[in-house]
Amino acid sequence: MNNCYPKTVTLVEMGPRDGLQNESATVTTEQKVHFIELLSATGLSRIEAGSFVSPKWVPQMADSDAVLSRIRREEGVRYSVLTPNVRGLENALASGADEVAVFGAASESFSQKNINCSIADSLKRFEPVITRAIDANIPVRGYVSCVLGCPYEGEISPRAVADVTDALLGMGCYEVSLGDTIGTGSPVKTSNMLDAVLTSSPAHKLAAHFHDTYGQALANLLVALQRGITVIDSAVAGLGGCPYAKGASGNVATEDVLYMLDGMGIETQVNMHALLKASQYICGVIGKKPSSKVALALSVKANETR
Ligand code: HMG
Ligand code: MG
Repeated sequence: MNNCYPKTVTLVEMGPRDGLQNESATVTTEQKVHFIELLSATGLSRIEAGSFVSPKWVPQMADSDAVLSRIRREEGVRYSVLTPNVRGLENALASGADEVAVFGAASESFSQKNINCSIADSLKRFEPVITRAIDANIPVRGYVSCVLGCPYEGEISPRAVADVTDALLGMGCYEVSLGDTIGTGSPVKTSNMLDAVLTSSPAHKLAAHFHDTYGQALANLLVALQRGITVIDSAVAGLGGCPYAKGASGNVATEDVLYMLDGMGIETQVNMHALLKASQYICGVIGKKPSSKVALALSVKANETR
């Protein structure tokens, strides 16, 4: 194998948060808890379990406190949540979140639509969230949305992505996840964006969060791996999308990422069979087929051998 790839990669499972936040079907608290418990049994070490945002903005995440309080926690798994402000953070801490995340954007218009403030104001708003979380010994992740394009502005300059990433790391985020929110990126664009970001931020503090709207996510992830990024966000069955990014479809499917990494001999500790159980369960709950090619192929294969 080409030695420009890492030996191990950490997968951060987005299904319960990014996956369900835009889902029109009702998913009960019990079903979310069961879903997270199935994911906890796969070998994943990081699961984004919910979001402490305004229930008026994202009603699907309104029960994140109940979900977090009820899940049976697997040792070695970190359960994280989104916290846009101090109020969200306090609720997350009270519910026992192991990690929190602030989420900003490289696009002014998306920042306004998603969190109702400018990029500069969002950074000011995140400051006390990060300080308070660090005081409570809770690691803080940062997200930058629209790193490869914006649903409102189109092209986003790599410099803008680098600046927000820099700012979040400088404020105390231990990692910044680079979001191709609408999945419009392609490999050369990804490479150019990473050229800019890696000028000021090291690869070991970055994660790749690529939505798969245009089927480019795996190709873009390969570029991220080549550039030394070893943390990948994905959602089982390819669930997901941001309610404030019209036209955006799901995250890259965890099954597809795992199949690619397994095939490259890159270790993740995640078990495909257990992952498929979680994927099939949540697809049954929301009444959808997985958008993961790997999940579909493996289910056909399993039916043939029955
Ligand atoms: P705002 O309207 O500017 O703020 O919202 P506000 O302080 O005026 O609050 C508005 C209402 O929300 C008030 O209620 C507050 O009490 C309540 P009202 O008085 O009208 O009844 N509120 C809260 N309730 C519960 N928990 C809270 C909270 N804060 C305020 N923490 C705010 C600002 C950020 C709160 C709002 O814009 C919001 O909730 N936005 C959420 C947007 C969101 O969740 N988007 C999806 C996640 S981001 C994403 O998917 C991208 C990502 O995956 C990466 C990628 O793909 O690029 C991460
Ligand atoms: Mg996302």
